Amino acid sequence: MSLPKDNKDSIPEPVKGLEGIVAADTNLSSVNGEKGILRYCGYNIDDLAFNTTFEETICLLYDNELPNQERLEEMTKKVGEARVLPDEVIRIITELVGKTSPMSTLRTVVSVLGHYEKNVPLKELPPKALRLVGQISTAVAIIHRLRKKLPIIEADPSKGHAEDFLRMLHGKEPTKIQVDALNLYLILLADHGFNASTFSARVTAGTLANLHSAITSAVGTLSGPLHGGANEKAMDMIIEVGTKKNASKYIQNAFDSKQKIMGFGHRVYKVDDARKPHLKKMAKKLWEEKNEMKLFEVAEEIEKQVKDRKPIITNVDFYSAPLLYGLDIPTDLFTPLFAMSRIAGWTAHVLEQYRNNRLIRPRARYVGQIDRTFRPIEQR
Ligand code: CMC
Repeated sequence: MSLPKDNKDSIPEPVKGLEGIVAADTNLSSVNGEKGILRYCGYNIDDLAFNTTFEETICLLYDNELPNQERLEEMTKKVGEARVLPDEVIRIITELVGKTSPMSTLRTVVSVLGHYEKNVPLKELPPKALRLVGQISTAVAIIHRLRKKLPIIEADPSKGHAEDFLRMLHGKEPTKIQVDALNLYLILLADHGFNASTFSARVTAGTLANLHSAITSAVGTLSGPLHGGANEKAMDMIIEVGTKKNASKYIQNAFDSKQKIMGFGHRVYKVDDARKPHLKKMAKKLWEEKNEMKLFEVAEEIEKQVKDRKPIITNVDFYSAPLLYGLDIPTDLFTPLFAMSRIAGWTAHVLEQYRNNRLIRPRARYVGQIDRTFRPIEQR
């Protein structure tokens, strides 16, 4: 882009979308996009995926260590006890449901929950952050129950997070495979380097704004279809395609009209997303348990049709979609479910930002006109 020669504000060419820019150090997660490896605190998620619970992941992100049995029990209890919302917040949800999307309601809930918390010194912040981890899941369940005019189901702190959420959402005990599937989902989406929502949480925390402000920013950022909103759109597409034989024409049309196909492409991964094979395997198991393979097979066919045309990677959102749908979760709750997992990473990142803070303040290059002649309003 050519700039006016005497533009005093001219600074180097910006990196669009900050692609490839390393903005900070982190001890939380690392993504090797060339090899398709995701690690939490040094542990490969291939090892964590089927062998741990979401609560163990929270311990890992908060403590930088996998827990022993005692620490895990303590964490399970703390998160369980946090699955409670103040009555006033439930009243606000009642006002909002049906008038706005679940994700917008969730953003408001996170913001309002901040009013019930005191400002505390950094060393007392982890329990406050953990409360939000518990509360977000209850909020998602209550949003759903209230809009369906179903009674709210109270949390049972003795249960694991995934199991209790499914019970609060559907009003019945989930099967073991359903609990395993949700645990896997929650583990795999808990953190992912400087993704857009985590970055926005850290930018907010970097001003020393409070935890709830940072997480409100993150929830808003996650809601967009290029980030967390892609899972819902991916499922809409799978349902719309409907049969394997429709997939080829649908995908060809999408390419011809230069549409982005939801659940494909990634800024960092050059090979398939590290989380994809685990999500795909678990989604398949869920649909096998239901003895209903049609939608899963449509998803596989869409993936094949995309890859036959262009080497675009399959990202986390594509097989998250049939996994969540297989748990009878309505598509407009998919992004809130993403938030229910990513809250572990967001809060851990906010704590990390506060521990070693420097205001995050990049620059923009001014490319507009300069030295314009000012005219008083009556002459314009
Ligand atoms: N469908 C069709 N073509 C695609 C897609 C897609 N989903 N993704 C990338 N491409 C093509 C794009 O057209 C471009 O081709 P060309 O070089 O020939 O013009 C090339 O791949 C690079 O795409 P880009 O949009 O410049 O890549 P980006 O790094 O700016 O965007 C992305 C990454 C994730 C926003 C993009 O791939 C996308 O919009 N995907 C669909 C939405 C989606 O699934 N989002 C979830 C992302 S993963 C989870 C998360 O971070 O939340």
